[in-house]
Amino acid sequence: MGQIRALAVAGSGGYVKPVMSERARIFSGMQPTGGLHVGNYSGALKGWVNLLDQGTYEALFCVVDAHAVTIEYDVKQMPSRILETAIAYIAAGLDPERCTIFIQSDVPEHMELAWYLGSVTPMGDLGRMTQFKEKSEQHQQNVNAGIFTYPILMAADVLLYKATVVPVGDDQVQHLELAREICRKFNARYGAVFPEPKPLLSSTPRILGIDGKSKMSKSRGNAIELDDEPRVVEKKLKSAFTDPLKVRLGDPGRPEICNIFTMHTAFTAPPALAEIDATCRSGALGCGECKMRLRDAIVRELTPFRQKSAELRKDPRRVLNVLQDGAERAHGIARSTLREVHHAMGLTSRSLG
Ligand code: TRP
Repeated sequence: MGQIRALAVAGSGGYVKPVMSERARIFSGMQPTGGLHVGNYSGALKGWVNLLDQGTYEALFCVVDAHAVTIEYDVKQMPSRILETAIAYIAAGLDPERCTIFIQSDVPEHMELAWYLGSVTPMGDLGRMTQFKEKSEQHQQNVNAGIFTYPILMAADVLLYKATVVPVGDDQVQHLELAREICRKFNARYGAVFPEPKPLLSSTPRILGIDGKSKMSKSRGNAIELDDEPRVVEKKLKSAFTDPLKVRLGDPGRPEICNIFTMHTAFTAPPALAEIDATCRSGALGCGECKMRLRDAIVRELTPFRQKSAELRKDPRRVLNVLQDGAERAHGIARSTLREVHHAMGLTSRSLG
């Protein structure tokens, strides 16, 4: 932290000139799932925007498309999934003037570094990853090496930029712990090239799907999507799961086990939230009314997001420019790190003679 390191900034004509930055660097990324949902928004995007607005960090936000190929997908849909994710980043308030937004596969050094890191990563550690176990269970017909080595690519994403702060949800903490382990192993073997990255946990609790059972996810069909029209939000909320012991108006409820209340914590301001908490418990507030207040809060917050997304969708050139600039900037840093890595590992012609 606080160490001075070269920050590559895209200059004119593709020339990349190093300048000094003392700000700690943050890196985070999301898979291009396409239409994002309120869980992605409150658990990740909004937190990223807050971190950026603090101005303390130099930030990179990546659309991790290379991670997404580990699960079978429709090739025709991938470009729009990537574009939509980038649009969501910008529409949520990640200002491309103040951070670097790019697509992982535009910077091939991610994959190269992952290969080197793979040779200091124990197989046993990869096999213990909960997400690997879950995914290989879900996709039994395609348990490929990519879903096994996924955390190595994730470690490479972060280490490539020497990021020290990594905002993630709780489901990614285990991967980050492994990234730290990989970092220590690499440094022990080849010299201190990488600073250790630390996870920064999202402060919003995890939002479940409207079925109230599993994590909100587009593929599970239980998501309120960021692009849902207000009446769709309403319809989904009406069918959403609440405290099963609160059946009719007057029944006392338990906000701490209610997913609707969890969503309120992400979208409703503290005084109104405290009132909901109290009146749900006393029984004065029924689930129907509580859900409509949540609809209003979600719609209020997401309306500007939807407007901005619609604008960007009409002007994809603008988004592509952001992504190209971002890739150029990221690539400058990535090249410089890999030069160090090659040197530390005794690879390439530059180390001969
Ligand atoms: N694995 C993360 C997820 O599924 C996405 C990701 C890939 C990521 N590389 C990263 C997150 C690097 C933080 C840092 O949510």
